[in-house]
Amino acid sequence: MQLTDVLTYHNGRLHLENISLAALAEQMGTPVYVYSQTLLAANAQTVLTSIPPAPPDTLICYAVKANANPALLHLLGQYGFGADVTSGGELFLAQHAGIPADRIIFSGVGKTRPEIVMAIQAGIRALHVESAVELETIAEIATAHCRKVRIGVRVNPDISADTHPYMSTGQKTHKFGVSPAQAIEILTKAATHPWLEPVGLATHVGSQIRSLASFADVACFLVDMAARLAAQGIRLEYLDVGGGLGIDYDGQGAPSLADWVTAVAPPIHQAGYNLVMEPGRSIVGATGILLTCVTTIKQQGERTFVVVDAGMSDLIRPALYNAYHAIWPVVAPPPGAPSLPVDVVGPICETGDWLARERPFPPVRPGDLLAILHTGAYGFSMSSNYNGRLRPPEVLVHRDKWYTIRQRQDYHHLLDGCTPIQNLSEN
Ligand SMILES: Cc1ncc(COP(=O)(O)O)c(C=O)c1O
Repeated sequence: MQLTDVLTYHNGRLHLENISLAALAEQMGTPVYVYSQTLLAANAQTVLTSIPPAPPDTLICYAVKANANPALLHLLGQYGFGADVTSGGELFLAQHAGIPADRIIFSGVGKTRPEIVMAIQAGIRALHVESAVELETIAEIATAHCRKVRIGVRVNPDISADTHPYMSTGQKTHKFGVSPAQAIEILTKAATHPWLEPVGLATHVGSQIRSLASFADVACFLVDMAARLAAQGIRLEYLDVGGGLGIDYDGQGAPSLADWVTAVAPPIHQAGYNLVMEPGRSIVGATGILLTCVTTIKQQGERTFVVVDAGMSDLIRPALYNAYHAIWPVVAPPPGAPSLPVDVVGPICETGDWLARERPFPPVRPGDLLAILHTGAYGFSMSSNYNGRLRPPEVLVHRDKWYTIRQRQDYHHLLDGCTPIQNLSEN
């Protein structure tokens, strides 16, 4: 199922499922993130039904970083997903959403001692170690707490993924994981420690990857390494291929979730290992739109700037990755309306604050609503209060109902955690 199956014009007005986006914006204001529960459930279902029957087992650990709204996490937990967390904050959110600890794995290149303590106390499925030093710290904490800790190692396979350089994570020039030789050393060391249990080998070579071949390579690489470990007497429980499946932002196509599962599961299952997958974007990316309102149109030399009330503080992907997001008017343009190139930009004091560049667009006026598509992943979760902007609300649509799943911030949120001025002046 695609976003365009649930995002459709009825009588010239854009609807997500059965909800009129103009009516929703009227009540919620703009900018606002809106997600489709039907699409979320369909994506989860596709993954779960594509998994070959157990044994061996498969656990889908949703990458919380993609979209950490508790309502979405809760739904995914109910569908049977676990969570891949990357900080104490994400662990807190996953637990808060009711995801059982034995379905949570902790990846992350710079885990702090308090985060490690938190994960051990929670009894999560495994910590994925990112360095020999980190293993020492985990061993020390596990010993002090008399808790047996399950260990996975994130290995860096030195595989280049065809994606934006900032989203490529599996080459030896990147900070992530350890070399294959170090991974073997770390797991061997863990095997001899009374409070550590080596259980898994993980990797994640990048995000927004559209080549299934890269994923098949990753699966074979892990099977190969697991065989080397088994030859040394270390029999792992699972192999974790990470996440990274791309979505079709620009109409150039992307493999389906079913094809992704089919590319990685057979080699791992045939070798007798359980499989862990960590999808983020491919589960939530297409489920969301960011609804925004045109504030001003500016002509500057040759360029036409459509200034909207959403900016890089709400959606940083264009600025950060030069990312493309389709933008649709909420009121369908009349047939035959001319399309002229415009820059859709936000109100923030940065030239990088753009959402579309030189994009052919039908005529728009201040007050018009626009929907920025495929913004369910790395949208709200990367938002900020930069320029004193308030984080937008989030709404979940399901058939003909919608629910506010996060309120818009108000100005008092800008003071969160700040020392009151009167206390400062008393110093
Ligand atoms: C370790 C790890 N797992 C999973 C993911 C999710 O990736 P994606 O959202 O591309 O599926 C990421 C994202 O960067 C990651 O760092």
